[in-house]
Amino acid sequence: MIVVEDLHKTFGANKVLRGVNLHVPKGQTTVIIGGSGSGKSVLMKHIIGLLFPDQGRVLVDGEDLCALSESDLVRVRRRFGMVFQGAALFDSMPVWQNVGFALLQHTNMPHGEVMEIARERLEWVGLNADVMERMPAELSGGMRKRVGFARAIAMDPEILLYDEPTTGLDPVMSDVINRLVRSLQERLGITAVMITHDMVSAYYVADHIAMLYLGEIVQSGTPDEIRASREPLVRQFVTGDSTGGVYQVR
Ligand SMILES: Nc1ncnc2c1ncn2[C@@H]1O[C@H](COP(=O)(O)OP(=O)(O)OP(=O)(O)O)[C@@H](O)[C@H]1O
Ligand SMILES: [Mg+2]
Repeated sequence: MIVVEDLHKTFGANKVLRGVNLHVPKGQTTVIIGGSGSGKSVLMKHIIGLLFPDQGRVLVDGEDLCALSESDLVRVRRRFGMVFQGAALFDSMPVWQNVGFALLQHTNMPHGEVMEIARERLEWVGLNADVMERMPAELSGGMRKRVGFARAIAMDPEILLYDEPTTGLDPVMSDVINRLVRSLQERLGITAVMITHDMVSAYYVADHIAMLYLGEIVQSGTPDEIRASREPLVRQFVTGDSTGGVYQVR
């Protein structure tokens, strides 16, 4: 469904992506793990066409994002839902309008129906209807995160990108989100890419796991293969050992 080929991206002197190759199979969940600053969010923004590479390309269902016109890019982007790392809610809109934003913008759906969809998606992420009229500033960090998640799934996207959807959530709420990610994939056949630091979440949702380290994929495989990996960088990351010696931070 998504093919990333030899992707390079530099910001100033900072070589963030240094030849990333990744295949994301249709209808499965691919998890990207890797340390802070390793380029995970930058990679994800290339997959949805918010950033463009210096070298290499991203193919979505065979279409090269770099070669598309602005209107074709908009068409391809509409196939995606994205949960941003920092929720990225509109501060001046109540929760239900945030969740239903794309429906309000791109369809003629009556407000009552948009509210009904918002209410349902909020319920899926474990939020009550009483948050519908609240403003983002009146929510906790974890609640904002889940509103961002509800917004990403409001349009029934074919492809979902999750940038650390469980970071900052308590263990029970993380489990609600992990189960939702699994059930979206199993029930609706959604193709998903999830970035996470949380290995419990990674092992639970992933069909494939790829580890990014200093802008390159150092290993990819099934959860069992990653669990049994002998690659020192992977071992050190998945066990959370700061004394392993191999792992450098940027
Ligand atoms: N728009 C940008 N302009 C300049 N530099 C950027 C930009 N976006 C990201 N970077 C740089 O790219 C590097 C990788 O950032 P990125 O956000 O992809 O890290 P990450 O792997 O997602 O980390 P974390 O786990 O902390 O979220 C960092 O050094 C960051 O400063
Ligand atoms: Mg990030």
